[in-house]
Amino acid sequence: MRAATNTEYGTPDVLRVTETDRPQPGPGEVLVEVHAAAVTQGDRRLRAADFPGVSAVFGRLLFGLFRPRHSVGGTMFSGRVVAVGSDVTRFSVGDEVFGGVDRGAYAEYVVVSEDGAIADKPEVLDHAEAAAIPYGAGTALTFLRDMAKVQPGERVLVVGATGGVGRMAVQIARHLGAHVTAVGSRDAELVRALGADDFIDYTAEDFTARDERWDVIFDTTEGDHFRSFRGSLTETGRYLSLYMTPRLLVQMAFTALRGGRRAMTGVAMGSTEGMEDLRELVEIGAVRPVVAERFPLDRIADAHRALEGRLPGDVVIEMRPRSEERSAIRAVA
Ligand SMILES: NC(=O)c1ccc[n+]([C@@H]2O[C@H](COP(=O)([O-])OP(=O)(O)OC[C@H]3O[C@@H](n4cnc5c(N)ncnc54)[C@H](OP(=O)(O)O)[C@@H]3O)[C@@H](O)[C@H]2O)c1
Repeated sequence: MRAATNTEYGTPDVLRVTETDRPQPGPGEVLVEVHAAAVTQGDRRLRAADFPGVSAVFGRLLFGLFRPRHSVGGTMFSGRVVAVGSDVTRFSVGDEVFGGVDRGAYAEYVVVSEDGAIADKPEVLDHAEAAAIPYGAGTALTFLRDMAKVQPGERVLVVGATGGVGRMAVQIARHLGAHVTAVGSRDAELVRALGADDFIDYTAEDFTARDERWDVIFDTTEGDHFRSFRGSLTETGRYLSLYMTPRLLVQMAFTALRGGRRAMTGVAMGSTEGMEDLRELVEIGAVRPVVAERFPLDRIADAHRALEGRLPGDVVIEMRPRSEERSAIRAVA
């Protein structure tokens, strides 16, 4: 099968499209013919060994000291089940699915555990749109609903609302019934259309200078800013950061014991339940993907370069599945 591989860490130029062995599903696993895979900041970090915060210490131990332990990247996919291993009960051949894996989605086929982060694809989305859901929406759901337990009527501020996670955070905070303030430097109309009640351009205004307080500040930017932002939190406000530093871990433990304003961080892990929730959120119209650019697998390096261009939406790789090629050949014959 064709797959995008990187056998060394580095710039997008390290990505190559090569022929590799097609994986086989084991017991409890399904083989998914990948129709689309999202290109995310997480993928960029794995490609470049740009491990942030505390993961700078263990990132290379986990993912490969001098070169990537697994050469096929890609973590978010949408596609069709083409084979099932023994004992599989949730899926059958032909099912359209979407989800997340630790690696291997930049390929024509990927093996996924049926107990993993996989669910039926929402029918209302095409594969590229479905692949664009789990990264940002899965992260936002974990942080806003599960970690901060956002309640209807609360005020949520999303720092980095124009990014991959931020665009989804705005929608999910809105769905949870919050008043949403978005912070970014571009795409104000788009972010308002996704559900933000207010937009603050951080190049023109510092939100911490406002005489306003928020119940939750969801910070998707680099660095930990609990000290700088805590004055903008209500007395029981929660600061959420995607960027896990040793200092923030100490602040998290300390504020959990002391009460009052809390600092929180963590890592969003995909799950079956999480994917089922995302499918439902899409189906009820609470969450919609914003796909800015679609690339064929052959242009994987360009897709990674595009990610650095602050596009008004997500970047997605579209595969031409072998099954489609076969039908095209039959149609021509
Ligand atoms: N912990 C986890 O489980 C987890 C999960 C997913 C992602 N992440 C991490 O989360 C981070 C964000 O991911 P992403 O995909 O959303 O990235 P992204 O698409 O690159 O978005 C970055 C956002 O940060 C904003 N920003 C940059 N500088 C800013 C500043 N000084 N003030 C306010 N906003 C600023 C950008 O706004 P403008 O472009 O409008 O200026 C943009 O909205 C990455 O570091 C990623 O690795 C962590």
